[in-house]
Amino acid sequence: MIILKSHQEIEKIRKACLVVADVLDSIGELIRPGTNTQKLDEFAEKMILSSGARPAFKGYRGYPKTVCTSLNNQVVHGIPSKDVVLNEGDIISIDVGAIVEGFYGDAARTYPVGRILPDTERLIKVTEEALSRGISQARPGSRLYDISAAVQHHVESHGYSVVREFVGHGIGRNMHEDPQIPNFGERGQGPRIKPGMVLAIEPMVNRGASGTFVLEDGWTAVTADGSLSAHFEHTVAVTSDGPWILTQKEARQ
Ligand code: MF3
Ligand code: CO
Repeated sequence: MIILKSHQEIEKIRKACLVVADVLDSIGELIRPGTNTQKLDEFAEKMILSSGARPAFKGYRGYPKTVCTSLNNQVVHGIPSKDVVLNEGDIISIDVGAIVEGFYGDAARTYPVGRILPDTERLIKVTEEALSRGISQARPGSRLYDISAAVQHHVESHGYSVVREFVGHGIGRNMHEDPQIPNFGERGQGPRIKPGMVLAIEPMVNRGASGTFVLEDGWTAVTADGSLSAHFEHTVAVTSDGPWILTQKEARQ
C-alpha cells in the first residue's frame, strides 16, 4: 500500500532530507587519498546528531554504521572500516539516512577520489543524469515505471547496465515503504503517480554486466564481474506542480 503524505508530513521529511543533504555536501571535503571510510562514518554521525537528527541506517536490520561507503566494484551497502583506505582514482558512493520527528530522509552520491580516469568520470555523470531523468518523471499523470524506464534508457544508451537486485522505494515514517522502484521497466506501466507520494529514487549503474552478489559480511553488494559501479539517490516528493527534490538544498526544481 502506497502511503500518501500531507504537506505537514512532507515538511518533516524535508527536515530529515536537509540533514542528509548537508552531510553529503560537506563529506566531499574529506574524500581524498589516504582517508579511511571509518572517518567518513564518524564525520556523518557527528553531523547528524548535532543537527538533532538520528542516523537511519545504524541498527536497521543490524546494520552496524551510520553511512554506507561503497568503493569501486561495490554497488551498495559497503560497511565503513578503518581498514578501507581510499586511493587516488577510486570512486566511492556515500549513502546517508536520517530521522527527524519520526520521518526519514535518504540520499546517496558517488564521489571521485583525487583524479580519476575520464571513462570513470563518465560512469558517474551518466548515473547522476539517469537519476535526474527518473526524477523528472515523478509527476502526477505519469506511471511509476516511467521513472524506471527513463533511468534504464539513459543508462543502457551509454552502454552501461542497471542493477536489478536492488531498487528504490517509498519513504516516510519508515525507510522502506511501498512502492518498490526498479531501475528498469516499461513506460506506461505501474501504479499512477499521485501528489503526496514520497519516493527514494536510486539508480545503481555498472560499467559491465548487471549481476551482483553480497559478500560474506552479509551487506556489501559487489558487481559479479568486478566492474565499477556508481550510485546516486534522492528523496523526492511528488507535488501537483511536479517533483520536489527534498534531499537538495536549493528550492524546487
Ligand atoms: N539507501 C539505502 C536503501 O535505501 C540504505 C539502506 S542501508 C541499511 O536501502 F543499512 F540501512 F540497510
Ligand atoms: Co534508499
